[in-house]
Amino acid sequence: MRHSEGRFGRTEESLFGSNRGKECPTGQHRDFSRVLSCFLVSAIPSSGASFVTARILNGNLIREEIYVELRGEIGALKAAGITPGLAAVLVGDNAASKVYVNSKVAACESLGIRSFFLTPSATITTQELLMLVHDLNERDDVDGILVQLPLPPQVDAKQILDAVDLSKDVDGFNPINVGRLVAGRPNLVACTPLGVMEILRRSKIPIEGAEAAVIGRSDIVGKPMALLLLHANATVTICHSKTRDLPATARRADIVVAAMGRPAMITADYIRPGATVIDVGTNRITDASQAERIFAKFPERLAKFREKGSALVGDVHPDVVEIAGALTPSPGGVGPLTIAMLMSNTVKAARMRHSGRAAGAATVRR
Ligand code: GUN
Repeated sequence: MRHSEGRFGRTEESLFGSNRGKECPTGQHRDFSRVLSCFLVSAIPSSGASFVTARILNGNLIREEIYVELRGEIGALKAAGITPGLAAVLVGDNAASKVYVNSKVAACESLGIRSFFLTPSATITTQELLMLVHDLNERDDVDGILVQLPLPPQVDAKQILDAVDLSKDVDGFNPINVGRLVAGRPNLVACTPLGVMEILRRSKIPIEGAEAAVIGRSDIVGKPMALLLLHANATVTICHSKTRDLPATARRADIVVAAMGRPAMITADYIRPGATVIDVGTNRITDASQAERIFAKFPERLAKFREKGSALVGDVHPDVVEIAGALTPSPGGVGPLTIAMLMSNTVKAARMRHSGRAAGAATVRR
């Protein structure tokens, strides 16, 4: 398969860059991208045929770049007597939420951000959780508040998100902060869409003038994602379950952001050759016949599935690597950036809340 020349003059030659013709670390494939490291080789199908594969946008590498910057900013804040603090609230014992919140707390520790981990019981009422949030709003050592979603059904999540102080809303979920983003005067912005913008910008993917399709319209990802792309001068289409001819609509786009939470739904027929594909989904699959269909060209991933009885897969079908110009893997693409941007928002919140003392501290605009 050859990529046709895209709207931005992206040709097969430019995809290969200076690595054209080199061997990959396993000796099985040509090495198309400098960022393609051994652990990502499983993103390439093992068909044996000669084909073009997408440039892999490695979220772990971009996260490390951001962490280097953040360590500098946190050091400067500490020198001014300010230690950023994040309060993470995990209600109940949802296993997936526990993993996410543990990763967020671990990231705080690795960067020197103070963390406060609160774990109220699954039976907490809306009023009790509101009181907890109000306490955190009042505390001077807490710069950021994160209430992990989903909340148990007896809790009114909207009331809780509304109660988080705007200056500590590091998730960017308070509707006033969402409204500020709509108005083009953002305060704190949702972490996953911010992370996607970091991936695009640091990977030098052209956004201005590009056609972008955001698939999924959630408050957490789809809507703020569309707004960030719009403010960066992309022409944005928001697609959802009622969109007529979704594949044809997505195929017009130079940038496709898949955020529907449906395993491997975005197949190659949704993607214009050479397009940039951002996979926001992380779905655990346990069905063997589904895994066989999804990983048909990825024997290593299928073998791992058989070993463990489950596997993580994005919203984008792995075969899309054969048609996209650039692609975030899942896992290992957007996920690491979500946590990195939570750390970045916490540092930003600390700087804003202590703006007098933090005046001289280094700032990286994200
Ligand atoms: N649940 C799934 N994603 C998120 C997130 O980004 N923040 C919070 N608070 N909960 C989530």
